Amino acid sequence: MRDGVNGLEGVVAAETVLSEVDGEAGRLVIRGHGLEALAGWTFEEVTGLLWSGFFDGLPRDLRPALGAARAEVFDEVARLDDGLLARAPVEAVRALTARLADGDDLAIALRLAAAPAVFTAAAVRARQGEPAVAPDPAAGHAADILRMSRGRPARPAEVAALEAYLVTVSDHGLNASTFAARVVASTRAGLTSAVLAGLSALKGPLHGGAPGPVIEMLDGVGAPQNARAWLEAALDRGDRLMGFGHRVYRVRDPRADALKRAVAALGKASNVLPGRFALAEAVEVAALEVLRERKPNRSLQTNVELYTALLLEALAFPPEAFTCVFAMGRVAGWIAHAREQVLGGRLIRPQSRYIGPRARAAA
Ligand code: ACO
Repeated sequence: MRDGVNGLEGVVAAETVLSEVDGEAGRLVIRGHGLEALAGWTFEEVTGLLWSGFFDGLPRDLRPALGAARAEVFDEVARLDDGLLARAPVEAVRALTARLADGDDLAIALRLAAAPAVFTAAAVRARQGEPAVAPDPAAGHAADILRMSRGRPARPAEVAALEAYLVTVSDHGLNASTFAARVVASTRAGLTSAVLAGLSALKGPLHGGAPGPVIEMLDGVGAPQNARAWLEAALDRGDRLMGFGHRVYRVRDPRADALKRAVAALGKASNVLPGRFALAEAVEVAALEVLRERKPNRSLQTNVELYTALLLEALAFPPEAFTCVFAMGRVAGWIAHAREQVLGGRLIRPQSRYIGPRARAAA
């Protein structure tokens, strides 16, 4: 396969007003706001920003509507049976989401935005043998996610950390899951189908499935002084170092710093984190050093997933649910991109280059 064809690198496959990823400068802009300017925003606010102009009747304040949508999709939690619980949480969330009606209107979009939050919380609790906790429609989305997951309200510092995470990952150009969502939306299949495509693409370990394995890496390293030897052994086995490298960024992913700040802020209000934070920093320094030595021609830097893993662990999400928490934020972007594709785009139908045998001439 020719370089660049297989992974579509450098190919512009959509025009978007939603976000810009500048891989050389390490900059992310979401609808005219640099990522750093979105610090302190809520998930509802960034969703309103992303969805603006794409839905009739979009309310200025999405909080009550999203709260009501959480309550609506909670009915589907009853379908979370033992068969689904035996699967990974992302598969349970995908199966429950597939039960929601398809369509393109705001009510469906709100239910889809609520779905990963409500279904993940229920799946996590059910795996712990605990009953699902019904949503509180009056609560903020991030606060309610933590309350539904734990069965008790979270501290304000924890809510702020989850809010920062959801906002940080809400949209990111034409990443693999967003592209998948746009392809499906381009056929006019509907928002539920587009979100399911996005979720399916997100779950892979080269995309949103990376932060769970980051925890395995940190546990494997164990102590800062072991970092270099452990990482070298992993690369000797042919493994990739999770949380490093990116298709677009040639410098540090700006989301890594936003999340590192969120973890540090949470650390001040927590007794659990300090040792873990130091370990992650030591792993980061050693990994960048080893990757520089092993791949001198390729700029492999820290991506969003290293500090995602630390943040979600500190918020007591189990690693097997990390991808679902990623989906809770990214679903806002998938829906905005799907609507943008439907309203302004055409059917996405590229061509392949045939490299198989030529047809035999008829005898
Ligand atoms: N560890 C070790 N080597 C790496 C890593 C890594 N994390 N990332 C890339 N490389 C190496 C590859 O082995 C390859 O080496 P080679 O040229 O000697 O064969 C070279 O760098 C280029 O790799 P590609 O696969 O072409 O790079 P691509 O742009 O396709 O990869 C990706 C991007 C998939 C993110 C990759 O860096 C990776 O696998 N990282 C680890 C998984 C991860 O953290 N994923 C989350 C990404 S962020 C997100 O999706 C939200």
